[in-house]
Amino acid sequence: MKISIYPGSFDPITLGHIDIIDRASKLSDELIVAVLQNIDKKSWFSVDERIDMIKHSISNLSNNIKVMSFDGLLVDFAKKQNANIIVRGLRAVTDYEYEIQLAHTNRELNDNIDTIFLTTNLKYSYLSSSVVKEVATFNGDIHKFVNTYVENKIKEKVASIKGFKII
Ligand code: PNS
Repeated sequence: MKISIYPGSFDPITLGHIDIIDRASKLSDELIVAVLQNIDKKSWFSVDERIDMIKHSISNLSNNIKVMSFDGLLVDFAKKQNANIIVRGLRAVTDYEYEIQLAHTNRELNDNIDTIFLTTNLKYSYLSSSVVKEVATFNGDIHKFVNTYVENKIKEKVASIKGFKII
């Protein structure tokens, strides 16, 4: 059985991530979307909130997708799950340097685990969670970047950060 892992911060999940999940799920028997419990990274959303948004976002996709959280090294988590493929999305050449470093490091740590890259759908090649949060902070329209459920969660978060309620 071919088990793949799609790891990330997913703070929050965007349409670009969903596109990668959809395509990666068709390449494996099972795909685990693995949410990093980043202790030092400042996330807008808790791990539970991020998992909830991912689950809502993938409800109409294939049923071979599991959503889990992990901490520590990705390769250790992958080994525990019997996964030997790591999936990452590549948006532009600017992603390459970081991604190749990550992939080589992971392979040095465990050479039974390979990284495969899926090129992001051109439509979403500019998109990142950080950009979505920045646009949302200034009350910009984010409906082209995330699905409606996630959009509402982001609006609630912005309102709570700014200390007012959305009506
Ligand atoms: O969505 P992101 O933030 O670009 O995802 C980065 C992620 C989660 C893939 C990466 O930070 C990671 O795997 N972290 C776990 C620790 C680890 O295994 N690092 C790899 C060696 S540097």
